[in-house]
Amino acid sequence: MTVDLSGPLMSAFSKAKKEFEDAVRKGDIENAKKKALECSRILRQLSKYDEFNRNSYLKKAEKWERIANDVKIKVVTTETKIDAKETKSDEDKDFRSYVEELISKSNVKWSDIGGLEEVKKLMMETVVISALKKPKSIQPWKGILLFGPPGTGKTLLASAAAGSLKATFFNVKTSTVLSKYFGESSKMISTLYSVAREKAPSIVFIDEIDALTMKRSQDLSEASRRVLSTLLAEFDGFQDKKNDTLVLTLAATNTPWDLDEAILSRFPRRIYVPLPDKKACIEIIKINIGDLDTSKLDLLAIAEECVKKFYSGRDLKILCQEAIWNMIREENPKLYELAELPFEELKNRTLKIRPLETRDFEEALKRVKSPLSKKDIEKYEKWVEEYGEYQ
Ligand SMILES: Nc1ncnc2c1ncn2[C@@H]1O[C@H](COP(=O)(O)OP(=O)(O)OP(=O)(O)O)[C@@H](O)[C@H]1O
Ligand SMILES: [Mg+2]
Repeated sequence: MTVDLSGPLMSAFSKAKKEFEDAVRKGDIENAKKKALECSRILRQLSKYDEFNRNSYLKKAEKWERIANDVKIKVVTTETKIDAKETKSDEDKDFRSYVEELISKSNVKWSDIGGLEEVKKLMMETVVISALKKPKSIQPWKGILLFGPPGTGKTLLASAAAGSLKATFFNVKTSTVLSKYFGESSKMISTLYSVAREKAPSIVFIDEIDALTMKRSQDLSEASRRVLSTLLAEFDGFQDKKNDTLVLTLAATNTPWDLDEAILSRFPRRIYVPLPDKKACIEIIKINIGDLDTSKLDLLAIAEECVKKFYSGRDLKILCQEAIWNMIREENPKLYELAELPFEELKNRTLKIRPLETRDFEEALKRVKSPLSKKDIEKYEKWVEEYGEYQ
């Protein structure tokens, strides 16, 4: 399993950017160039961890490469620091372009999601009612909170909602907004909602909303505090505006108990996205196995084992990938030797496959470990009883 290094990379980026600015200020062209290239390299690495914002990172990486090439001219022609050059409207444009980079196209369909029938229904209902013509007194939901253990399909559900509506989908990771824009993150949020209103129907997906909570740490950073109040103001503000533009906010968290009242009260519709049950496990395995032959497998037995092991949809995906690889390696033991061949030659050859067998899964089941325990699940269930909505 790959380790998500986006947090440390983000800090490394901020550090490199600051060092770049210092170098520019001092007129140290060599170092500024070096730091700009470092920024570009870090952004390229970041693009590997964030599928939705990949293009945006790559574009930014290219921008930093251009800066590295231009740095000489900039230092020579401007004696003052480059930041000072930016006028207010440039800044606004920057925010807008950053917000526009958060827009991603979603091709996810409801049928790509295994299980979660009730959750899907609830979401579809919300989405549909928001779009239909209706009397003024019927107010659609403005926000839905999706909560549950990691890897259960929260992001997938948000993408499917956007995909099905062909809505503009803004994918916002709270920690990224906070770490990237520091003091200006709240401006980001208001720009985000104004662009979302312009481009309605829109779905704003706010992942890791718990990063804005005050409960978890007493000393919530000033930036988080401001982002939180802007977010709440946007929420309350546009509740009263025209009710025929759909701007639906979907928020997700793994730790709903960390959320404070201010957030919870804006999300009266709270949907629990649980670990898959047996039936859902079978569906998710089938989705991940695609067109390979499963007729020799006892899917029910595998699913029972997966439920016992507290597997999430993400774990199931990894399990299937491992099982498929076990089959491929067994059928093509000398696969690596083909690496010597030119690409054109490889294209003429076919990978050997066979129907998947129980033994392919047995190995994989030993290797894939869920980070969850019964106690964790009970904690979610207790929260659902008290605050949630679970059909
Ligand atoms: N119900 C499901 N049906 C099909 N695939 C699933 C399901 N749940 C998870 N997956 C697989 O696991 C991957 C991760 O799911 P997703 O990103 O939606 O989880 P999440 O709940 O947002 O997790 P996190 O809380 O860690 O952000 C998906 O891309 C998909 O491949
Ligand atoms: Mg997610």
